[in-house]
Amino acid sequence: MAPQSFIIVAIDGGAASGKSSTARALSERFNLLHVDTGSHYRRLTHEMLRRQVRPDDLPALQSILAALRLDTRIEGRCAEMEIDGRTAGGEIRSPEVNASVSHYAAVPELRQALLAYQRGQAGIARRHGFRGLVMEGRDIGSVIFPDADFRFFLRAESGERTKRRANQGFDDRILERDRIDSSRKAAPLTCPPGAIDIDTTPLTLGQVVEKMAAHLAPRLA
Ligand code: DC
Repeated sequence: MAPQSFIIVAIDGGAASGKSSTARALSERFNLLHVDTGSHYRRLTHEMLRRQVRPDDLPALQSILAALRLDTRIEGRCAEMEIDGRTAGGEIRSPEVNASVSHYAAVPELRQALLAYQRGQAGIARRHGFRGLVMEGRDIGSVIFPDADFRFFLRAESGERTKRRANQGFDDRILERDRIDSSRKAAPLTCPPGAIDIDTTPLTLGQVVEKMAAHLAPRLA
């Protein structure tokens, strides 16, 4: 029997566009390892804030990045980044991190420090026997895995996104972060050519998941 093929699914989109909920649902349904790259940027931002290193202090930023040991811990179907042996807690969703993360994520050297780590998640998923990888972020289909088997771009009107976040009990500066994330030079948030572009504004979470799953299902049957 031919070995089952391994698939890579990229999901990009702005804050509160539905990436995490859909990625989680697809990971459960198809046995894919789920990687949230926003949490990587949040982790590094928290680390830099803790050490009082500003995003424009490139020498200090680079020397810290060079010394950090990045590993991966698998919890269920979710890959958590470890920095020097520790995974993150709720502090990566704090108001301080929300206010700063887009500024650190705009630094090319910081993005470069995550590139190999993020690409390496595919090998980790294979070694742990997952059917594939579903990775969410802003530049997954454009930079990290431009040759992914499936590349989705989720969008939603700003009013709808603000409402979704408020319903979750968060205020994480989604519109301000989107403005910075979309206008930066390094790997800006954009729908890459050829990606499957889904406007989730009028759809329920279940409907978005079904749309995405319909693309994957023939490959995974
Ligand atoms: O997905 P999130 O909202 O938790 O992401 C936090 C920030 O990280 C987001 O404002 C921009 C940055 N980010 C990025 O630049 N590239 C990614 N692939 C993922 C997140």
